[in-house]
Amino acid sequence: MRVLVFGGTGMLGRSVVGEARRRGYPALGLSREQGDITQSDVPRQWVERFRPQVVVNCAAFTRVDDCEAHKEQALEVNGHSVAHVVAGAQSLGARLVQVSTDYVFDGRGTSPYPNDGRTGPVSVYGESKLLGEQEALAYDRSLVLRVSWLFGAGAGNFVTTMLRLARQGMNPLRVVDDQVGGPTYTRFLARALLDLAGAEATGVLSYQNREAVSWYGFAREILRQEYPAVAVEAVKTEDFPRPAPRPAYSVLDVSPTEAILGRPVETWSAGLAHYLAEIG
Ligand SMILES: NC(=O)c1ccc[n+]([C@@H]2O[C@H](COP(=O)([O-])OP(=O)(O)OC[C@H]3O[C@@H](n4cnc5c(N)ncnc54)[C@H](OP(=O)(O)O)[C@@H]3O)[C@@H](O)[C@H]2O)c1
Repeated sequence: MRVLVFGGTGMLGRSVVGEARRRGYPALGLSREQGDITQSDVPRQWVERFRPQVVVNCAAFTRVDDCEAHKEQALEVNGHSVAHVVAGAQSLGARLVQVSTDYVFDGRGTSPYPNDGRTGPVSVYGESKLLGEQEALAYDRSLVLRVSWLFGAGAGNFVTTMLRLARQGMNPLRVVDDQVGGPTYTRFLARALLDLAGAEATGVLSYQNREAVSWYGFAREILRQEYPAVAVEAVKTEDFPRPAPRPAYSVLDVSPTEAILGRPVETWSAGLAHYLAEIG
């Protein structure tokens, strides 16, 4: 399976390229400089050159708070430009995996969001990613894969932030306990993404690691493993005002994904153990 990845130098893109190559698939990951999806012809040109069976779009404007002040750019990169990637995939009849997010929901749910559940983004980032989903779904060979709270090699993330603050001597660390979701290891996600692409899954699916936990609970586990002497103090979202509102409840229904994969999704604690070993 030949795999072409836009946003291939980002945190998830690297994992997808790495996993594809481990399987022996020819895989090409493009940086923004090489494969800027806002340029209408660029995705199609790469598809014609590389001739993939699967195109994975990991390219995105991911700085959630900056999206609030740069709405046009967010809508362009995360929304409208997905149509260029679709056109590229379509030109060869390749499958497309469009990576999306839990932020398409409003966060007021109390049970895992079904894939056909009512969306209602509360941030510009969420709105722009929802637009990207709609662009992708105009093509019948697309899979929109909603994911959440990623951590993995090659980029700063929540785990590296906690470790850095602990290393710098901050004690206690203050972390919100009123946002609940599914921390997700990019290597596990990359495996599932390629398996779903191989199974020719289409429509909307979700992938996040189990079990649901708050940022506070996740931080406690990170610190317990690496800096047991550092305390974690639970605080509220309102204690950390930020430009973009965060959904309070971000748990996705992964059971349809598990049915296609024929296995349960992995736990975030297993992912964390792998990741801590990976970064040494
Ligand atoms: N991180 C999370 O917790 C999280 C949660 C839910 C969903 N997601 C989604 O998962 C996907 C991957 O996220 P990530 O965390 O791996 O993000 P990331 O590390 O920020 O990577 C994003 C990649 O997109 C590239 N990019 C930006 N603008 C581009 C453009 N116009 N054309 C082509 N490439 C462009 C970036 O290149 P430069 O570095 O050169 O700008 C970078 O390689 C995104 O769709 C994101 O919305 C992420």
